[in-house]
Amino acid sequence: MPQFTETELTAAVIRSFEDTPDPRAKFLLQELVKSLHEYVRKTDLTFEEWEYAIDFLTRTGQKCTPIRQEFILLSDVMGVSMLVDAVNHRDRGGATETTVLGPFYVGEHKVMPHGADISATLPGERMFVQSRVTDLKHKPLAGVPVDVWHADDEGYYDSQKTSYATQGPTSRARFVTDADGRFFFRTILPCSYPIPTDGPVGEMIVQTRRHAMRPAHVHFLVDAPGYQPLITHVFMAGDKYLDSDVVFGVKDELVASIQKRSDAVMPDGKPTAEPWHLMTYEFRMKPGEGSAPKPMMANATEAA
Ligand SMILES: [Fe+2]
Repeated sequence: MPQFTETELTAAVIRSFEDTPDPRAKFLLQELVKSLHEYVRKTDLTFEEWEYAIDFLTRTGQKCTPIRQEFILLSDVMGVSMLVDAVNHRDRGGATETTVLGPFYVGEHKVMPHGADISATLPGERMFVQSRVTDLKHKPLAGVPVDVWHADDEGYYDSQKTSYATQGPTSRARFVTDADGRFFFRTILPCSYPIPTDGPVGEMIVQTRRHAMRPAHVHFLVDAPGYQPLITHVFMAGDKYLDSDVVFGVKDELVASIQKRSDAVMPDGKPTAEPWHLMTYEFRMKPGEGSAPKPMMANATEAA
């Protein structure tokens, strides 16, 4: 019966993965063991702390549903999501900057016609979004699906509301770029919002005296064949949380000035009776490959 010292134990566990057939899986597991063991040694972790961690992770898993992803939220607030994003996008080469997917990409993005109001049933200040998808030389990319989703003017995503099951998505849609790479739609001005604080991740944020807020933004996922999928947000200039986003997701290039307008017609020539806001943003795609993340609804269906 072998008996190990602290460091011999680490070496033994690393050796136990030696025959893993997939070399990448072997590397990832052995490095994970090294980091976890180092953490336990460095902190002299107590039994109570270890049990707390097990319970915390258990509750994090139990909070997940087909439309709620507490583990992505945990990864986001610990900065891991942005670090994974950073190491995978070290050289953008002029392409639009990336940021976190976030926990609210649940799928159900129905294709809507250009100009559609994706928040027609919601109160709020009206906003017109006009955008274009191009390559690095500003050549338009046609026929590209673009998923958009954002919070309402009280800071909630559709999937957080009880009405989601019966009324379906709001402030969430898919557009397909036209021959000039353009797409445009109507919606409402999103506002800054707190991440959900009714689960273990929110509890941690509150108990550690961090604030739970994200600056106002619209999510975009652009998935053009022959280009790396682009997962990003466009943030609203002037938001007071731009410098302290709870998930560390803000990049300067992604902050857009939203113009306040009072013209009687919107850019597509249709009339409007109230003042409105205009968001204009161009997405530049980087050649390459990759697969866009699968929405949670799709994962749930596959698992079922
Ligand atoms: Fe968001």
